[in-house]
Amino acid sequence: MERQQPASMPQDLSEALKEATKEVHMQAENVEFMKNFQKGQVTREGFKLVMASLYHIYVALEEEIEHNKEHPDYAPLYFPEELHRRAALEQDMAFWYGPHWQKDIPYTGATQSYVRRLHKVGRMEPELLVAHAYTRYLGDLSGGQLLKKIAQKALDLPSNDEGLAFFTFPNIASATKFKQLYRARMNTLEMSPEVRERVIEEAKTAFLLNIKLFEELQALLTQDTTDQSPSTTPRHRRQEGSRAQESTPSKTPRGKAQLNILSQAPLLRWVLTLSFVVATVAVGLYAI
Ligand code: HEM
Repeated sequence: MERQQPASMPQDLSEALKEATKEVHMQAENVEFMKNFQKGQVTREGFKLVMASLYHIYVALEEEIEHNKEHPDYAPLYFPEELHRRAALEQDMAFWYGPHWQKDIPYTGATQSYVRRLHKVGRMEPELLVAHAYTRYLGDLSGGQLLKKIAQKALDLPSNDEGLAFFTFPNIASATKFKQLYRARMNTLEMSPEVRERVIEEAKTAFLLNIKLFEELQALLTQDTTDQSPSTTPRHRRQEGSRAQESTPSKTPRGKAQLNILSQAPLLRWVLTLSFVVATVAVGLYAI
């Protein structure tokens, strides 16, 4: 017999999360960056940007997971061999950004906000960590697989998954079966109605953090194409050692991704240098 539940509040946490995030999932699919991606309109530049953000996000998420792996509110969901993405993303970073990727990868403002939230949850409200793990890992095992195929084709990548390790789960034979197991484990978590409500809200927040990130990346890409002529800037040349050359917003001392106007305007740099030399000579002559 079917369980009697109010239509708006499924009993199982897995069902409740799916239901509650339906609308925000649709929003995520429909942000311009994602809409373009689904149409195969993704550039190497855009792909590198999003992958670098994912690297930072998974480092933070998995750091907090390790920290809470024995916490009863997370322990049943601890599947490092099957799910954890940090090592895969490190391979992808080396592929896309070359051997010095650790200092070269961008760290955008929206990525930093996401990372801050993950650390706050991990340290202060570990009972909400399930919401972030659910949003990322089940997403990667679902729509993520479609995005992998699109990227492979659009970016003309080798079929051996180089540069796409993030999307490959070698220790999961069937994504469908694993997702079933994961949902079953989520449903074993014991939580009060109050905590459950906060978990659901946190999952929506997690989606919104992803949406904000896509919006930011889209703005950076649009700004980038209007601000510069591709392939002639020092930024591009700096990455010639990389397997996959493309420009990315540079890191500023505050860590925000911004387009460095001087590095993109060689003419401006020359004019400023020339003015400085002329001024120095003039001061020298005046002193004589
Ligand atoms: C172009 C963008 C996207 C596409 C095409 C897409 C597609 C899908 C598809 C086909 C499913 C499987 C639905 C089902 O099994 O019933 C799914 C599930 C899921 N997606 Fe996405 N998705 C996208 C973006 C995202 C984003 C940005 C996130 C969050 C970061 C996300 C998180 C999830 C989650 C958590 C699930 C599992 C839902 C559940 O079974 O409870 N998706 N997605």
